[in-house]
Amino acid sequence: MEFDTSIVPPSPQQLERAAALLKSGEIVGIPTETVYGLAANAYDPEAIKKIFLAKGRPQDNPLIVHIDILERLNELVSELPKTALRLADAFWPGPLTMIFPKSEKVPYETTGGLDTVAVRMPALPAARELISVCGFPLAAPSANLSGRPSPTCAAHVYHDMKGKIPLILDGGECEVGVESTVISVHPDQVHLLRPGGVTVEMLHSIVPTVEIDDGVLHRVSDNVKAASPGMKYKHYSPKADVIILDGSLEQFSAYVNEHAADGVFALVFTGEEQAVSVPALPYGRIDDGAAQAHGLFSTLRELDERGAKIVFARCPVKKGVGLAVYNRLIRAAGFQVISL
Ligand code: TXA
Ligand code: MG
Repeated sequence: MEFDTSIVPPSPQQLERAAALLKSGEIVGIPTETVYGLAANAYDPEAIKKIFLAKGRPQDNPLIVHIDILERLNELVSELPKTALRLADAFWPGPLTMIFPKSEKVPYETTGGLDTVAVRMPALPAARELISVCGFPLAAPSANLSGRPSPTCAAHVYHDMKGKIPLILDGGECEVGVESTVISVHPDQVHLLRPGGVTVEMLHSIVPTVEIDDGVLHRVSDNVKAASPGMKYKHYSPKADVIILDGSLEQFSAYVNEHAADGVFALVFTGEEQAVSVPALPYGRIDDGAAQAHGLFSTLRELDERGAKIVFARCPVKKGVGLAVYNRLIRAAGFQVISL
């Protein structure tokens, strides 16, 4: 169905309008503090199917279910480990998604056929207000077309979903800018499946052991079962061919200047724009992972708009939120990293 997609502020009236659409089985673009989501009633298999269709998402890639209050967790899960409650207490509402054994109420359409369900409580008040007006949890993947950079403002959602959805709630620019941290929880240990705004260092302050899945920093080979289905798919890609150059700024500028040509761009840290002879787009200072996370996806989209064919990118520092930035950038680069 072709919709005349409207973009509206998350006022009380528009939250009611969005909730009415969601209750009637439609899907809606919603803001969160991480990235924009494409939301549906988590309990409505027909509405969930519309998400997969609109995104062009593989059916076996499960969705994250969003809640407004901790009490709503009970109806979604069949087990609630103590460690998870401690983590919820520390980091919810916020950019942390935890994986639980699912209750019978959660349809397999939502979990991509898995017996587990991923849950998070978003920090953005408008997102929680919407869930509360709906009275049911919202399943929402990032609101991009599958394989494209996640949307960090309403205009990005409109670009990818125009005509496919009736409504986008415009909550402004996303504060974090990369998707939530995804973990599975074990007694006294968590397993990191996707790094995000809640960092390894922060998780360590609550649980003694934080194990980083191989798929976080490396390509998951085709014959290995990914711990999280999302790991195996190409992600976050602009149309350009992105290549990460791992080395000093001097080495970077020498390499890029040697390969300068029409359509060659550089993705650099703020303040480094003058170091190369090709157009350079900055997305945060070298020592500021949070700023890089905030700017990464919109800068990848801007490279497309500027007609970039090849993008040489500086290598992010893999500490704090920088680990999430590196994780997204190596996927945008299809794992092409050149050591200088
Ligand atoms: O910040 C976010 O998490 C955003 C906003 C909208 O909340 N959502 C988001 O959803 O990033 P999505 O669908 O783009 O990413 C969900 C990730 C995927 O990599 C998926 O494979 C993984 O979470 N996932 C979901 N359920 C899972 C499960 N039961 N077991 C393992 N991985 C799961
Ligand atoms: Mg996504």
